[in-house]
Amino acid sequence: MHRIGVVGAGYVGLTTAACLAHLGHDVVCADVDEAKVERLRRNEVDLVEPGLAELLEQHEIEFTTVFPHEVDFLFVCVPTPAGEHGEADLTAVHDVVAQVREDTVLVLKSTVPVGTAQGIAHRPTVSNPEFLREGHAVEDFLRPQRVVVGSADREAARRVAALYGDVPVVLTDNTTAELIKYACNSFLAVKLSFVNTLAELCEQVGADIDGVTEGMRLDERIGAAFLRPGPGWGGSCLPKDTRALLTTARDQDVEFATLRAAVDTNDHQVRRIAQMIEGDRIGLLGLTFKAGTNDLRDSPALAIARLLVGEVSAYDPAISHDIDGITVVGTPEELADGRDVLVVLTEWPEFAELDWPALADRMTTPVLVDTRGVVPAAKVREAGFRLVSVGHPDGRH
Ligand code: UDX
Repeated sequence: MHRIGVVGAGYVGLTTAACLAHLGHDVVCADVDEAKVERLRRNEVDLVEPGLAELLEQHEIEFTTVFPHEVDFLFVCVPTPAGEHGEADLTAVHDVVAQVREDTVLVLKSTVPVGTAQGIAHRPTVSNPEFLREGHAVEDFLRPQRVVVGSADREAARRVAALYGDVPVVLTDNTTAELIKYACNSFLAVKLSFVNTLAELCEQVGADIDGVTEGMRLDERIGAAFLRPGPGWGGSCLPKDTRALLTTARDQDVEFATLRAAVDTNDHQVRRIAQMIEGDRIGLLGLTFKAGTNDLRDSPALAIARLLVGEVSAYDPAISHDIDGITVVGTPEELADGRDVLVVLTEWPEFAELDWPALADRMTTPVLVDTRGVVPAAKVREAGFRLVSVGHPDGRH
């Protein structure tokens, strides 16, 4: 058992603290936000993350606002927000580096620009990027597809990997580890933009995106995941990390054309979806960037809403407050009242099972735009809707 410090009690820090405690380590978790630390001491968690509250309840974790000096390993899980020009603000990381004790292994989990660890004087520093998906963070931490540990001190990197138990490990140097994180999220973004353009092409040539991606996903070289078209990709990582990698490439005079195109395609997708939405009174089904989270950061739904002229309301099972001038209502039926068009923007499973005839009755003109391919097309049409479905010619489905 090791004494481990975690700095930052956000989504990554809390998951890290809870899971390391679950793996049998003695964990102290520090955050500068006193009110948050007080709540955590009372076992109150603000995050919607399956399994997290249970782990925090099961294990004794010390929550504190005091910097944890007496630790063998110190995990840095502080935010590195993008500044005005897309560059990461590393103030919080440098604050930690300035305080860490000499014989502590510093573990950088925060996503930092390629080359950051190399510029940190503290030894050993191990780069250990996180690959946690919101809504699956605990599962991703405890059963990772791989743990990446990079350091000039390979022994320190091995010791960090061992904290996770018996897991697949990629052992490398700091800079390679930092780049792996950006490479993964950027590759996913490229894959999604590719599929979103294919969906647009399907609508034009009369092909069906579900059939096309089924034919693609059975090819193991392509892989089955991240082939669902949507309103564009968003969230706290993909937009930020793609921009950061483009900045790194530009600084090195490397022309990363595929990635630039993926980002441009995503902007195009948002505009294209907004143009599909006709009507003065618009109802949005879903606001979060994906299902299973209450996170609205860089949500394509909000980007699309900003482009709409007309009166915009929304229903989202995870959101109860008005946002960005959008009135948020409590039920899909309320949303349908007097609307010209409904638009599915998040793939919440409950949207597949709405009472379509009841919704159609409440609308002025029953039109449904489905950007996620989640509604049962035949039932929706039977209920009297005109269905416009991304990737399906004339809404055929
Ligand atoms: C992502 C990475 O998956 C994770 O490894 C990293 O650590 C953080 O960023 P997350 O932001 O939680 O995780 O979302 P993810 O599930 O990857 O989805 C990203 C975006 O792509 C969402 O907007 C989602 O709706 C969209 N998406 C995903 C699609 O449109 N189609 C798909 O098939 C998959």
